[in-house]
Amino acid sequence: MKRHFRVWRGDSSGGDLEDFDVEVNDGEVVLDIIHRLQATEAPDLACRWNCKAGKCGSCSMEINGMPRLGCMTRMSTFTAAETITITPLRTFPVIRDLVTDVSFNYEKARETPAFAPPAGVAPGQYRMQQIDVERSQEFRKCIECYLCQNTCHVVRDHEENKEAFSGPRFFIRAAELDMHPLDDRTDRKQHAQQSQGLGFCNITKCCTEVCPEHIKITDNAIIPMKERVVDRRYDPLVRLGRKIFRR
Ligand code: SF4
Ligand code: F3S
Ligand code: FES
Repeated sequence: MKRHFRVWRGDSSGGDLEDFDVEVNDGEVVLDIIHRLQATEAPDLACRWNCKAGKCGSCSMEINGMPRLGCMTRMSTFTAAETITITPLRTFPVIRDLVTDVSFNYEKARETPAFAPPAGVAPGQYRMQQIDVERSQEFRKCIECYLCQNTCHVVRDHEENKEAFSGPRFFIRAAELDMHPLDDRTDRKQHAQQSQGLGFCNITKCCTEVCPEHIKITDNAIIPMKERVVDRRYDPLVRLGRKIFRR
């Protein structure tokens, strides 16, 4: 059956939606349609992908305005009459067609302080309780698709916030290391608040909604971090200590 598609074509200087009618077979996903277009009418259509199994995080795009993985979005998601509009991630600069420059995320990764084991404990000597392993296991499922980063309104609508805001993907990294019993950097929470822009997040949960790994970014990482920052800030003993030592 033929279905109608609109695909954004262009580069950093601008572009437009191009119309295509494409044959769709049972069980296909949006990435199959992009591949069919590349094999037929649009051989130069640029699209980043790698695994076609929802694991490499490369094929992030917006499908009918919703940030999704092209390889995990079944055509059966849409009604037969629906036009399927495919556009690049809106938060990052377009390189060409559906390919965007996601280096913002690599910069934020570099700014996130690395795991710091205690002095004298070498790799191979790390010992953890299973419960501590399990606590942060959820965050390790991240495939770095950056759909959450693309969705968060703090940067999606405000280019000017990009410098001060690391985004949900790096809040889960901070939370993961904060829960790590061998991480010797004491103040992951303060770092998230002061240098990663945790305070910009107003818990809209849009990041959680689009995460293909179903990581509870807001409930399990952001909110606990925010609560602990607040606890510390308003703890009467900590406040008293701050006053005394500031003198
Ligand atoms: Fe993608 Fe989820 Fe990781 Fe964000 S947290 S980069 S949405 S897998
Ligand atoms: Fe953004 Fe997620 Fe917070 S979408 S505002 S980081 S809850
Ligand atoms: Fe790897 Fe889609 S191609 S996640």
